[in-house]
Amino acid sequence: MLLLCALVALVLAGRASAQNKKMKLEVLPKTLSNKEVKNIMKGWAQSLGVKCDFCHDLLDFSKDTEHKTIARGMVKMVNDINTKHLAKYKVGVTCATCHRGNAEPVRPPGAPPLHPEEGGEEGAEHQHEQGAAPATPAQPGQPPAPAPAQPKKKP
Ligand code: HEC
Ligand code: HEC
Repeated sequence: MLLLCALVALVLAGRASAQNKKMKLEVLPKTLSNKEVKNIMKGWAQSLGVKCDFCHDLLDFSKDTEHKTIARGMVKMVNDINTKHLAKYKVGVTCATCHRGNAEPVRPPGAPPLHPEEGGEEGAEHQHEQGAAPATPAQPGQPPAPAPAQPKKKP
């Protein structure tokens, strides 16, 4: 029985390392094992509230898809934020920091307008779309204004 277990373990280990060589990793460390990659993948899927097939062709995980390519850019951004901007803090950002269970992050109520350098018009539009915040930005130190219960649809 023991011998059988050892054999199975050996075969599994052999398979794992064979798979490692095949993995096409461009942003994750190439030293990760297949199991480690899968654990990271489970975290990404959970953070975005999606299943593996959101980013993958399930018949060939190494095949690049539109969402997989976007995800690679996201990984680079997260690494950038954590190594350049947050290096001196203990808590870095993760996919969940922004996504919080959504494939497309939802702007929180009271968030400052997007693209203020362009006059903030576009930002205001976005906020209306999301039914989020009123046009007046929250004052620093004050809690953000609550979102209206029944957001008015723009004509
Ligand atoms: C948000 C998109 C996303 C989701 C969801 C996701 N993956 Fe991935 N996956 C990627 C990206 C991007 C890579 C390539 C990483 C790199 O380039 O370093 C990858 C790589 C992989 C690889 C290595 C493929 C190869 O080249 O051999 C496997 C295996 C994998 N994912 C499995 C999974 C599984 C299983 C799930 C579901 C639990 C999952 N992925 C969910 C984006 C995703
Ligand atoms: C700083 C905030 C932020 C972080 C951190 C972040 N994302 Fe994103 N992500 C966004 C925004 C903003 C979008 C664009 C959503 C839209 O199109 O409205 C997006 C879009 C995406 C999309 C495309 C979704 C779609 O439906 O088209 C994928 C896939 C994705 N992110 C994966 C990831 C992964 C994986 C991580 C962690 C490695 C991550 N993101 C971390 C902000 C973030």
